[in-house]
Amino acid sequence: MMKDNLKQAILLLSEGKLVSFPTETVYGLGADATQPDAVEKIYLLKNRPRFNPLIIHVSDFCRARRYGVFNEHATTLAQHYWPGPLTLVVPLAKQSSIAKNVTAGLTTIAIRCPNHPVAKKLLSQYIHPIAAPSANVSGYISPTNKQHVVDEFSDQVFVLPGDSSDVGIESTIVDCTTEGEVSILRPGFVTKEDLVSTLGIKVKTRGEDSDVNAPGQLKQHYSPITKLYLNVEKVINNGVCLNFGKTHLSGAFNLNLSPNTDLREAAANLFHYLRKADNLAQANNIKCICVAPIPNEGIGVAINDRLSRAASQDAL
Ligand code: TXA
Ligand code: MG
Repeated sequence: MMKDNLKQAILLLSEGKLVSFPTETVYGLGADATQPDAVEKIYLLKNRPRFNPLIIHVSDFCRARRYGVFNEHATTLAQHYWPGPLTLVVPLAKQSSIAKNVTAGLTTIAIRCPNHPVAKKLLSQYIHPIAAPSANVSGYISPTNKQHVVDEFSDQVFVLPGDSSDVGIESTIVDCTTEGEVSILRPGFVTKEDLVSTLGIKVKTRGEDSDVNAPGQLKQHYSPITKLYLNVEKVINNGVCLNFGKTHLSGAFNLNLSPNTDLREAAANLFHYLRKADNLAQANNIKCICVAPIPNEGIGVAINDRLSRAASQDAL
């Protein structure tokens, strides 16, 4: 069964069609990164702004080096964290076969080597890298299981089945395009402390250090349809509540991201529970989702980043 699914995915990709596949972070919406017409379909299906470049996925560091130029820090990070939830932005290799619309015309490229058994099989058997954003309509909550993808795109894309994403939030994106410097463009499971301890240098963060730039990091993203309130200590309007640890918000429906106060567990549950909360609210005419405070440390930084974008009213 798995073998046939894999064969079908490979055939579809080579024909320039889209395939959704599981990764340990979120489910991706993949296209052959060397076929511009296939990549175009991603932007169309997701309704994704054209200035927001895509990440290419490869099976290993050796293949990654065909498409990007890895300096010393980038090499150290790839060797330390791959396969895993880390994306490296590096200069695009000269004469690479990557379609221009993958990088939105930039001279840099984002590369990732995921650690999920199904993604690993697909990437090691397919000859080209796979360009893939998260498999959701641009702006909505990212998918962490097959059903989430089916809910959004029904039968419009083939979904390669596999276990749900156990990290649950998108990869940490690190810019390695400036010699001797490393900056975080998007926080994730691999934390700033992790990077500092691996490299032994200072690591900048976009937002905190204003000279760091990331195209396409939208202020509003990951948003449920229902209005979202953060750092809630007292429930407003009898909403759907997302607790963390010992917080006890009590509304019409109550979920807990991690009863054990475990930030990893909270990250793994985050998008799934946001979707659940949104569905409950929509089905029961509930006006808001209330989220308890989440500690802003370690992976909590990435969780709060996603939550604040999900709650943002600003389009850009
Ligand atoms: O975990 C993940 O990274 C997932 C799975 C599917 O791999 N993918 C993902 O892709 O989150 P997406 O498209 O939702 O987010 C990609 C981010 C965007 O914010 C984009 O701006 C940034 O990567 N990006 C891509 N290429 C870039 C580049 N050359 N320079 C800076 N940022 C880049
Ligand atoms: Mg996304």
